[in-house]
Amino acid sequence: MKLSVLIENESMSPEFHKEHGLSLYIEALGKNILFDFGASPNFIENAEKMKVPLKDVDFCVVSHGHYDHTGGIKAFTELNKKAKIYIRHEGFSDFYAHENDGRVVYIGVDKSFFDLPQIVFPPQRMEIMKGVEIFSGVKGSLMNPPGNSQLFIDKDGDQSLDDFAHEQSMIITENDKTYLFIGCAHSGIANIMEQYYKERKAYPDFVLGGFHLFREEGDPDNSELVISLSDYLKDKPSKYYTCHCTGLPAYELLKERLKDQIDYQYTGLQINL
Ligand SMILES: [Fe+2]
Ligand SMILES: [Fe+2]
Repeated sequence: MKLSVLIENESMSPEFHKEHGLSLYIEALGKNILFDFGASPNFIENAEKMKVPLKDVDFCVVSHGHYDHTGGIKAFTELNKKAKIYIRHEGFSDFYAHENDGRVVYIGVDKSFFDLPQIVFPPQRMEIMKGVEIFSGVKGSLMNPPGNSQLFIDKDGDQSLDDFAHEQSMIITENDKTYLFIGCAHSGIANIMEQYYKERKAYPDFVLGGFHLFREEGDPDNSELVISLSDYLKDKPSKYYTCHCTGLPAYELLKERLKDQIDYQYTGLQINL
């Protein structure tokens, strides 16, 4: 498995764009897989600099229907017409963030993408190919991200808390190693890992993605939760590569406690795992 971090919130070098968003390029099982599309077409320019041929992507998985994971979809389809894009049907709902300053901001997918011929709506469990599965519908209340309390779904003018039915994760199995890819882990990283365990009776060897622990000005301190989460993660045999909505302060706290078991995946990182 080779991982290229096409975009996320930080960058390992000023030559790459960075933004609040996520896009990962994965070479595994003889396929090229794109996991999320960033917030804008910036990841496409980064991919060129990283010598990642996006025109050769075989298929794409969208972790959830927020703008920071889907903004680059249209630009991608202009250079790759063949790759299917697996996104939950619920991903096209109307999502809003209620900001600390009182603003209500639309954070959903650009609705014009709905009719793209590449879009596929998968069921809750799906094997895309041998060795690549996606799953959604994670339940549980183990250390859920506190930031979820500001994320809403609008149904016919009524806003209620988002239940994240639109969030899916991807499992790749290659050479007896298992890789769990998550976008923002809005359903809670621990709940996603427990769902994984329930089905496989083992934890993944690698977990890659954001844990949604970042705080904005005015958000309450969440270090107690991050410490509890670090105890949970430490106890598992997994190696973590986190980024994006984990936020650097939470990452540093996790790093202090998990040591080599966790690393940050910056924009521009290319590694063999
Ligand atoms: Fe995100
Ligand atoms: Fe999100």
